[in-house]
Amino acid sequence: MADFGYDVSNYTDVDPIFGTLEDMETLVVEAHKRSIKVLLDFVPNHTSDEHPWFIESRSSPTSDKRDWYIWRDPAADGGPPNNWLSVFGGSAWQLDEPSGQYYLHSFLAKQPDLNWDNDTVRKAMKSAMRFWLDRGVDGFRVDAVDWMSKDAAFRDDPVDENAIDAVPGYDHSSLRHVYSRDGPHLFERLNEMTSVLEEYKDRFMITEAHPETDDKITGYLRYYQGVNPHLSAPFNFQGIYLPWKAPEFGRFIDTFQAAMKPGYVPIYTVGNHDESRIATRVGNAAARTAAVMLLTLPGMAFIYYGEELGMHDVDISQDKIRDPFAGKQNGRDPERTPMQWSNAPQAGFTTATPWLPVSDDYKRINVHTEAADPSSSLNLYKRLLRFRNQSRVLRYGSYKPVTKYEHVLSYERRLGNEILLVLLNFSDLNQKLVINDLEGTIVVSTHFEDEGATVNGHLTLQANEGVVIQVSHD
Ligand code: GLC
Repeated sequence: MADFGYDVSNYTDVDPIFGTLEDMETLVVEAHKRSIKVLLDFVPNHTSDEHPWFIESRSSPTSDKRDWYIWRDPAADGGPPNNWLSVFGGSAWQLDEPSGQYYLHSFLAKQPDLNWDNDTVRKAMKSAMRFWLDRGVDGFRVDAVDWMSKDAAFRDDPVDENAIDAVPGYDHSSLRHVYSRDGPHLFERLNEMTSVLEEYKDRFMITEAHPETDDKITGYLRYYQGVNPHLSAPFNFQGIYLPWKAPEFGRFIDTFQAAMKPGYVPIYTVGNHDESRIATRVGNAAARTAAVMLLTLPGMAFIYYGEELGMHDVDISQDKIRDPFAGKQNGRDPERTPMQWSNAPQAGFTTATPWLPVSDDYKRINVHTEAADPSSSLNLYKRLLRFRNQSRVLRYGSYKPVTKYEHVLSYERRLGNEILLVLLNFSDLNQKLVINDLEGTIVVSTHFEDEGATVNGHLTLQANEGVVIQVSHD
C-alpha cells in the first residue's frame, strides 16, 4: 500500500485488508446477476519491491529472476545510469548497495519496473490476466501503459525547455520523456495483452495513457490504430485537463469525434483518483453541466465515485497525508476521501477510523439525503443514466457539432430520424438562444424544474444549465 494498490505484491490474490478471493468471486457473480460488468485495475509496468519476484531478483546478480526487472551498472561517475526521473520526483534509479547496481523505478522506489523485454515476465503477466478472466472479470483498466516499453539504448531524456517552473533533475515535468516511455515495443505489448482477452468472450481493456504529443488527439489515436479497437481503447483525459470553456471543449470533442472510425470507442471522463474533483475544479453548478456532457457523448463514460453526489476535494492536514505524491500538487488524497453514504458518523462509510478524513460537507452531500431531493446531483445522474440506458440515439447515434456559441456547447446526436440536441451553458449567466425551426421537449436538465418544457424557436438556458432536447420531427 505504498501507492495504495499500485504496488502489487501478488497478482493472483486479494489483499486481506480488502477481503478474500471468495469475496471477489461473490462480487463478480452478484454484479453479473444485475447486468453490471466488473473491470479490474491491472498494473503491468511495475510490482511492489515486496513481490517475491523482486525479492528474488534483488537477492543476487546471478538470480534467475535478475532480468525480470531493469538492473544497470552505475554511470562512470558512480551515479545513476541515466537522467530518467521518477513520476513522483527524483531519479528513477535506486542504488542497491549489496550488488552495486541500480534498478529502475518509474514511480516510487518501492515500485520497481518489470522488464517487459523478458519473455518469462510477459508470460507471467499474461497468466495473471487469465487468473482474473477465468474468474469472470470483464476486463481491465490498464495502468500506466506508456512505460511498458523503453528505449533499448537507455538514452537520456531531453530537457523540456518550456517547463520553467519544474525543478531540473527532480521534477518529472522537467524532462521530455521520449526515451523513458513510449518505446518501440509498446503496441506489440498491448497487443499481446489483448490477445489474452481474445481467448475469452466479450472482454475489454481501457488503457491509461498520457501521450506527450503536442496534439493530444494524435496521441490518443495511436492507441486506436495500434491496438484492436474492439478489444481496447484509451482514456480520453481532456475532460479533466481542458479549461472549462465552451469553445475549448467544442474544439476538442468535435475533432476527436471526427477522428473516430467505426468500431472505435471514445472513453470520456471528467475525473479520477489522480486529479482534483470536478466539483472543486469547475464549481458545483458547472459540475452538473459536465455530467450532462459526459453522459450524452458517444462511447463509454467513466464516473469517479462521489462525482454523482457532487463530492469535493477535502483539505488534508499535513499530519494526515497518505499519498506518497504529497510533495507535489497537494498530493492526491483530497480526491480520495471516504464515499459519503449518509449523515451518520463518518458519512456511514465505516464505524472505524478511515485512512483519510471524511469531508465536513457530508451531512448535506450524501447518498441518503440526496436520494430524497429531486433536484440533487444524485438524482440528476440517475435521470441521465436512466435516459441513456433506454435511448438508442445516445447509445448508437452519430455525433454532430451544431451552432457555435461563446458560452454554450451544443451538439446533436442522431439515429435515423430521431434527434437529440444537447445544449450546455458553460457560463454563470443566463443565455438566451434563438434557434429557428427548433421544436422539441426538454427531456433532461440540470435544472429539474425545466424538464418536460416545450421549446419552440428559442429558449433561455439558466446559468450553468445543461439540457437534452428531444427534437420533434414531422
Ligand atoms: C497511474 C495511477 C496512479 C498510480 C500510478 C502508478 O497513473 O492512476 O494512481 O500512482 O499509475 O501505478
